[in-house]
Amino acid sequence: MPRSSLVSDALVPPYQSLLQTAIKSAHTAGSIMTSATSIDKEVSVTKVNKKDLLTKIDPMCEAAIKSTILESFPDHLILGEESVEPGASASSDALSSYLSESESLNKPLWIIDPIDGTTNYVHDLRYSSPSIACSINGSIVVACIYDPYANETFTAIKNSGACLNGKPIHVKPETCLEDSVIAMGAPPGKLSAEKSIIGFEALLPKVRTIRMLGSAALMLSWVATGRLNCYWEWDLSSWDVAAGGLIVEEAGGRMRGLMMDDGRFEVGERRILADDGRCGEEVRRILKESGVFLK
Ligand code: IPD
Ligand code: CA
Ligand code: CA
Repeated sequence: MPRSSLVSDALVPPYQSLLQTAIKSAHTAGSIMTSATSIDKEVSVTKVNKKDLLTKIDPMCEAAIKSTILESFPDHLILGEESVEPGASASSDALSSYLSESESLNKPLWIIDPIDGTTNYVHDLRYSSPSIACSINGSIVVACIYDPYANETFTAIKNSGACLNGKPIHVKPETCLEDSVIAMGAPPGKLSAEKSIIGFEALLPKVRTIRMLGSAALMLSWVATGRLNCYWEWDLSSWDVAAGGLIVEEAGGRMRGLMMDDGRFEVGERRILADDGRCGEEVRRILKESGVFLK
C-alpha cells in the first residue's frame, strides 16, 4: 500500500508529518525484519535473563528507525530500547531523563521499540512489530505499530482517532465478561511471571478465553481493532506501551495503570490494563481480589 494512502488528509499539521515519519520508519524496520536470514535472527545475546532475547536485527532496526526520524527531524530526541541498559530501573530512569530533557529543551521525544516480540521473531512466530511513538510535552501525540507479516499498519494521532491501513478502527465492547477475549503477557521476569500466573487462574474461568501473543504492541493494537477485549501485563517499559496506548485510547478504549488508585495511565506506568471501554473495571477487580496487586 502506498504510504500516502495511510494518512487521512483531515489530519492537522504538524502531527501529520510526524505520523508520516513514524510510518516510514516502522515500514523500514519491518522490511529489515522480514528480509533477515535465519542466521541473522539467531539470538546474539540474552539480556536480563535467558528469556529476554536480543538478535543482530534489533539494533539494526533501531538504527534504521532513528536515522529515518532524524532525516526529517534532526533535532528531535529519541529513546530506543536498544540504547538503554536492560532492566526495569534502567528503563524507568531512561524515560524520566529523556522526558525531562525533552521538556527543558522543548523538543519532541520519540519512544521506540525496534522489534516488539523478539522471542516470537527468533522462533518465527509471526507476531512481532516495530512500535514508534512521538511525545510532546510528556504526552504521546502520534503512534505507529507495523505488523510486517500481515502488512497491517496501526496508527493514531491524539484527538484524531486510530486507523488500520488508513481506515478508522474502533474497539468492540462485549456486553458481558463471559464473552470477552482477554490477552496477557507471559513475561520474562520472575515476579511478573508469578503475577501473570495468579491473574491467569483468576480470569480464565470468567472469560471466553485468554491469549498470550508475545507482543505488547500487537496485543494493544488488537484491543483497538476489537479482536481482543482486554489486555493486561504486569511489567512493561515505556517503549512497549507508548504507541499502543495511544492507539487504544484513540480507538475508543481505555488504558489504565494497575497500581494507580485512580487507574490513571501514563507512559511510565509498568503495569497496564487496556480494554474495550467496558470489561476493564471487572478485570481489574478480579485481578485485585486474586492478589495480583495490593491497592
Ligand atoms: C516484550 C514483549 C512481550 C512482553 C515482554 C516485553 P520485547 O518486548 O512485548 O509481549 O511480555 O514483557 O518485554 O522484549 O520483545 O521487545
Ligand atoms: Ca517490547
Ligand atoms: Ca524490543
